[in-house]
Amino acid sequence: MTFKKLVGMSAVLAMLFAAGCGAATASKSGKVVTEADLSYGERGTPPKVEYSKAAPGTAKRFQRSYENAPPLIPHSIEGLVPITLNNNACLGCHMPSVAKSMGATPMPPTHFKDFFFDTKKKLIKQKLYEDVIAYKARLTLMAKKEDIAPQRYNCVQCHVPQANAKPLVANTFKPEFRNPENKHRSTLNKNLMEGVK
Ligand code: HEC
Ligand code: HEC
Repeated sequence: MTFKKLVGMSAVLAMLFAAGCGAATASKSGKVVTEADLSYGERGTPPKVEYSKAAPGTAKRFQRSYENAPPLIPHSIEGLVPITLNNNACLGCHMPSVAKSMGATPMPPTHFKDFFFDTKKKLIKQKLYEDVIAYKARLTLMAKKEDIAPQRYNCVQCHVPQANAKPLVANTFKPEFRNPENKHRSTLNKNLMEGVK
């Protein structure tokens, strides 16, 4: 390929790229959403919002935001946070062994899988991972669903309560659930390798 042809091609690519970027910022109506539209910025402080006051057991579950999205917390979390090393109230109701009797959704099987397992196994072989005894003990507990994967301990990192805040820009995203059942429960564990193999 000649140098001239290459230059020509990159010019076409640059144009296509610019066209793509333009389309991403203009909404359906053709109105361009600016950075300022998306934040309070110069409009002052945001209005006060309220979180759900319903106690666990009295709240209505939300539909999932999309298939296998982390469910939103429908109940009040007052008094349940902060989650600390020695105190995680969420587990007291959401561990599979107790969830049913509490009327709560049990934590799914994905929360009992250590996705870094293979890495840790390699590190243990290379004598680079020190806490082998504690790790093995945890694996046994996880297999019995008596302990969760360490990455899942801080629930509110992924699960959040909802406030009655009015969105500044309307959200037109509409989730598509392949199975209507997925509107209220997760099947991620079954589909973990979807699109990977
Ligand atoms: C006293 C028991 C209890 C505690 C403690 C508790 N929950 Fe819940 N949780 C429930 C119940 C019961 C539901 C079902 C909705 C309802 O009735 O409030 C629920 C629903 C949820 C849901 C929605 C599940 C779904 O299927 O849509 C999430 C997410 C959740 N809780 C996360 C948490 C987190 C995170 C914590 C800790 C900060 C926590 N919960 C603490 C009882 C509890
Ligand atoms: C790293 C992010 C992350 C953390 C941390 C996390 N979750 Fe989840 N959770 C998810 C995602 C994503 C899903 C949906 C997909 C799945 O099943 O894994 C989910 C699903 C759930 C569900 C719904 C299960 C179902 O069958 O529909 C419950 C209940 C839940 N989590 C509770 C908890 C609790 C309690 C904690 C803390 C002990 C926690 N989660 C920590 C990401 C997280």
